[in-house]
Amino acid sequence: MALSDRLELVNPSEIRKLFDLAQGIEGVISLGIGEPDFDTPAHIKEYAKEALDRGLTHYSPNSGIPELREAVAEKLKKHNKINADPKTQIMITVGTNQQILMGLSTFLKDNEEVLIPSPMFVSYAPAVILAGGKPIEVPTYEENEFRLSVDELKKYITPRTRALIINSPNNPTGAVLTKKDLEEIADFAVEHDLIILSDEVYEYFVYDGVKNYSMASLNGMFERTITMNGFSKTFAMTGWRLGFVAAPEWIIEKMIRFQMYNATCPVTFIQYAAAKALRDERSWEAIEEMRREYERRRNLVWKRLNEMGLPTVKPKGAFYIFPRIKDTGLSSKEFSELMIKEAKVVLVPGSAFGQAGEGYIRISYATAYEKLEEAMDRIEKVLKDKELV
Ligand SMILES: Cc1ncc(COP(=O)(O)O)c(C=O)c1O
Repeated sequence: MALSDRLELVNPSEIRKLFDLAQGIEGVISLGIGEPDFDTPAHIKEYAKEALDRGLTHYSPNSGIPELREAVAEKLKKHNKINADPKTQIMITVGTNQQILMGLSTFLKDNEEVLIPSPMFVSYAPAVILAGGKPIEVPTYEENEFRLSVDELKKYITPRTRALIINSPNNPTGAVLTKKDLEEIADFAVEHDLIILSDEVYEYFVYDGVKNYSMASLNGMFERTITMNGFSKTFAMTGWRLGFVAAPEWIIEKMIRFQMYNATCPVTFIQYAAAKALRDERSWEAIEEMRREYERRRNLVWKRLNEMGLPTVKPKGAFYIFPRIKDTGLSSKEFSELMIKEAKVVLVPGSAFGQAGEGYIRISYATAYEKLEEAMDRIEKVLKDKELV
């Protein structure tokens, strides 16, 4: 099937439509957006300005500048226990999002199946379709804190299954896989000879003392894992569009080919700023400050949701929370529409994240504490007035 035909099979994100609806409503509070509300730390902006002044405005190698690949290799070794050669096993990309399609395109054949824990980040299934494969949703459950289990994976494996996408900490549920979860998933991947795409963009935003582990750090797993990551969430740099990926050489070599004939390379002066940012202690202090604030907000929202009668798992990571709304009798879409109209609060229906998301809504707490308090008051009032809880 031609790419133009496959493009007909992927729909614009539900979330975008919702934002359009919210546009023009005065006093609206958006808890819909999936990006940090913090500004990029000042010293990183200074590094970018410096790079511009130095005239670093030309093409870079297709795989990214060596300085940044080396800084990423150091970070992966120190923080993730992943040993990747910066020359052949690391590549810099234009954000993390494009890595999903680029990574899948290095090995997936027509109609091969890719397992995706659901609810899931909105790009995964479309990327699988564009790469010529078939996305297979594997449900995760509130009862298991939305963590992926091998028992569930076993129900969906077929001779056509080629890969598995994992995302911990998770968008939209905030679930964080434990080391034991990862070990069991790793054994399953080895048994069925699967490639794993591990999306770790929220890795630093974990709470209650929980630690996040990287799949590629487990014994023998680097050889079958594409570790996807970027600067958007960690450094509050969504608009800078910069990501990095670590994988076996044969995969990186093909991803570079993809980039060569597509973006060419990521923005050069931004790569210089990012290389400096990774090696600057101030960046890690800023991240810890953001993490602490997210945790404070999570505690507030989790408490308020449960108190107002929406049962909610306490998420261990990311900056999302996923309350159950099915007991109100409304679908997740109806619930979101009601809250936009009556409470002037934007929430994303769980159905936007796959079949397993129905009956829930996603709240992003990447919004100021006072706004979150106000939003919780408004939602609670509508629930009480309409006798939905
Ligand atoms: C799970 C997940 N992966 C990847 C991305 C995309 O990140 P980037 O801005 O680096 O492309 C997002 C953004 O929302 C996300 O939630």
